Amino acid sequence: MNAVATVTFLLATVWTSIPAAAQTGAEIYQQRCAACHEEGSDRIPPRAALEEMPSARILRALNAGIMMAVALTMDPEDRVAVSSYLGTSDPVAGPSAQAFCADRTVTLPATPQASWVGWSPTRDGSRFQPADQADLSVDQVRRLTLKWAFGFEGDSSAFAPPTVVDGQMFVGSAGGVVHAMRADSGCLQWTFQADGPVRSSIVVVPAGQQHALLFGDMTGRFYAVTAETGVLRWSVQVDAHDSTRLTAGPLAHDGIVYVPVSSWEETRAADLDYPCCTFRGSVVALRISDGEQLWQTWMTDAPQARGRNARGTMRHGPSGVGVWSTPTLDEARNLLYIGTGDNYTEPATDTSDAVIALDRTTGRIVWSRQLTENDIYNGSCATNPEGCGPDFDFGQAPILSRAPDGRELLLIGQKSGIVWALDPTKEGEVVWETRVGVGGINGGVQWGMATEGQRVFATVSDVGRSRNTDPGDPRRVVLDPNVGGGLTALRIADGGREWYFPAAHCAAGRPLGCSPSQPGAVTTIPGVVFTTSVDGYLRAHSTTDGTLLWSFDTMRDFETVNGVAAHGGSIDGPGAVVVGGMVFISSGYLRNGGVTGNVLLAFSAE
Ligand code: HEC
Repeated sequence: MNAVATVTFLLATVWTSIPAAAQTGAEIYQQRCAACHEEGSDRIPPRAALEEMPSARILRALNAGIMMAVALTMDPEDRVAVSSYLGTSDPVAGPSAQAFCADRTVTLPATPQASWVGWSPTRDGSRFQPADQADLSVDQVRRLTLKWAFGFEGDSSAFAPPTVVDGQMFVGSAGGVVHAMRADSGCLQWTFQADGPVRSSIVVVPAGQQHALLFGDMTGRFYAVTAETGVLRWSVQVDAHDSTRLTAGPLAHDGIVYVPVSSWEETRAADLDYPCCTFRGSVVALRISDGEQLWQTWMTDAPQARGRNARGTMRHGPSGVGVWSTPTLDEARNLLYIGTGDNYTEPATDTSDAVIALDRTTGRIVWSRQLTENDIYNGSCATNPEGCGPDFDFGQAPILSRAPDGRELLLIGQKSGIVWALDPTKEGEVVWETRVGVGGINGGVQWGMATEGQRVFATVSDVGRSRNTDPGDPRRVVLDPNVGGGLTALRIADGGREWYFPAAHCAAGRPLGCSPSQPGAVTTIPGVVFTTSVDGYLRAHSTTDGTLLWSFDTMRDFETVNGVAAHGGSIDGPGAVVVGGMVFISSGYLRNGGVTGNVLLAFSAE
């Protein structure tokens, strides 16, 4: 179903089952929206502006756009009711004719010359792009200039990394639109509408005479779409829990795709009427040819009722242990390595905040190495911190690397601010550990590190928050413009610090939500390490001493090749993608108090 069809279907359901939907919509608007949208602040679109928008667009803002955080605790039916109450019945405009390539043929070579497919171009998770694939020298990095900008219509975040095969690009979006486009010009070939936001990296595999794109969305649905045409082959809901999110990109190997499963249920526990928590993380293996499930390995036992909370709502556990990142493949041992998140409720399990090795064929847990014990955290901890935390998830899988002396190592960074090296031959025994940041709930090393085989590069979030002194902005707390960030290079051999590059504070006049924090994933090519920041900058450093080689400020308006008004904002989540002499970055991150944006940028050397 495309977006308009989904909306029409949902509207029809609401109208037939709840005849007083308009009334309900008005009530919901009063309860959930009026306080802000009738406040008279020039930063908030007034009610009149919402009334000029198509309902489908408002619904998109609630489900996948700018109002996602507001709508987090709203039922799907209530979102539909308030959207149809407020908006018009006009359809949402798709891409304009100007956005499309003159020739819309998508061809993928049998043996690609230069590609970046999925979360890391190599399936060891290193985010290292070798010289022949990167096709970009240190000198050329110094001369990178913007080649084109593409705007995601109606979106307020741009958090999906592109996948590129010999100049053919595929990229998801916060609006749930997957785009096939040319990497050299940014023109469109086709679009595919998923149910929810697509922030996962996309994998491309041969499928018969054609190719299949494999990716998940933020509602728990996983898709196989024909790369050449954009036509759906199959889709499956990998987990029935209504908080499921497929944040991580999949890993495909030998006809099987491995899908990590996470959720936002942890946040819902802020509402004491919510029966927290019943989600449990897992990895699901699907047959690529037809989507048939081969195995699903849960990270905890099934939750049971565990007594009532202060408001008398039943609590459940064990729960949590979401898997937020793409698994790393160890082909020689037939294993997948994952990093896991915290428990949401008691009892604590020994699988949370752990590195876990799964048998690729059966999904069996071969070994598990817990690095923080007893980490139970959920949304109610903000008001009642007793027995909570420290919320030290792994937002990344370990990199399977080799020390210069030939020893294999698993390298992983944690929200605690610690980088770990584990021994894959000894069930993950700790070889060394080095602190690179302060750590915290939104601190430490988050989305991923990178290594070129000598050093491992880690940036930290370590975000700060301060009281908002801007009377025109409804937020009480905003990101501190002077706290967070930092890039460290550690020697793989012993974890010793080789160099450190501190983050720059946000300059005066930057928008609220600017922060020097650097939660985004790091990328490396020979001689260069690319970092991103919530301050909107993409930066390139020398791998040998951290010297800044080049930087680009994405926090501004852009003229786009598809004619959509676009601006950049905070960069968080995926890092830079470097392939075939070009560098790609998406900019704009509404979550965690960052600056919104809806742009995908492409750079090449003059
Ligand atoms: C806490 C304050 C707040 C609440 C509550 C709130 N909004 Fe908003 N809304 C905003 C702000 C601020 C913006 C503009 C954000 C921006 O442009 O960066 C906005 C933007 C929007 C937009 C996008 C308008 C555009 O120009 O694209 C829509 C649609 C919207 N809100 C709908 C709603 C609905 C429906 C509700 C109730 C369910 C709601 N909002 C509740 C503050 C709020």
